[in-house]
Amino acid sequence: MSIRFFEPPQDKIIDRFQQLESEFTQNRLIFNEWLQKAAVDLGASRRLFDVLHNDENSGVLLIHIIDNSTVKLNALIIYPQFRNKGIATRAMKMAVTDLLPDVSWYFTQCRSNDIRALRLEERVGFHRIGLLRHLRESADNILFAYNNKNEFSLETSRKLAIKLYSRPDQQLLIGDGTNA
Ligand SMILES: CC(C)(COP(=O)(O)OP(=O)(O)OC[C@H]1O[C@@H](n2cnc3c(N)ncnc32)[C@H](O)[C@@H]1OP(=O)(O)O)[C@@H](O)C(=O)NCCC(=O)NCCS
Repeated sequence: MSIRFFEPPQDKIIDRFQQLESEFTQNRLIFNEWLQKAAVDLGASRRLFDVLHNDENSGVLLIHIIDNSTVKLNALIIYPQFRNKGIATRAMKMAVTDLLPDVSWYFTQCRSNDIRALRLEERVGFHRIGLLRHLRESADNILFAYNNKNEFSLETSRKLAIKLYSRPDQQLLIGDGTNA
């Protein structure tokens, strides 16, 4: 199977998000937040990529560029009819190795009860580094980090996470997320 990324022109991005909205039922609140963010500042630091499987649109990946070496993978969504074929696993692996050649640190998070997403992050090689409590939504997310230059350390990743995730509306609890 072939997987590749395609970055749609800026003026098509909002259409892409709206198309997805009806399918994204699990984390609807967060999705709506993404929609709003996409509308206001996609141009600046967020980039949306279509995931193509054998040249068919099969999902999207939203990336938040923090700086030259660090990004947040904000959302990978594979459309329902393309799931369970290994597409997300391959796409995530490609995203952390080939998509942005200068970047070495990748952060991502998923709901602490979303077994499917948690398994995906771990299969790709992400490390659990903490738990992010979203205070407004009363929801817990597991925070993951990955370094593609073989320079992963829990200490460095946690220091970076403290810088990246300190916000009044969320609380970062360092640990593997199992005992918070
Ligand atoms: C989570 C999500 C991205 C996974 O996408 P996916 O393409 O189905 O993921 P994969 O196919 O790589 O892996 C899913 C399962 O299929 C299995 N699988 C992998 N390759 C396979 C293959 N060739 N044939 C059959 N099954 C396969 C995997 O082992 C995995 O099994 P598991 O769930 O029991 O661990 C998708 O369900 C989704 O879009 N969910 C909604 C959004 C979301 O939660 N995003 C992630 C957090 S931001």
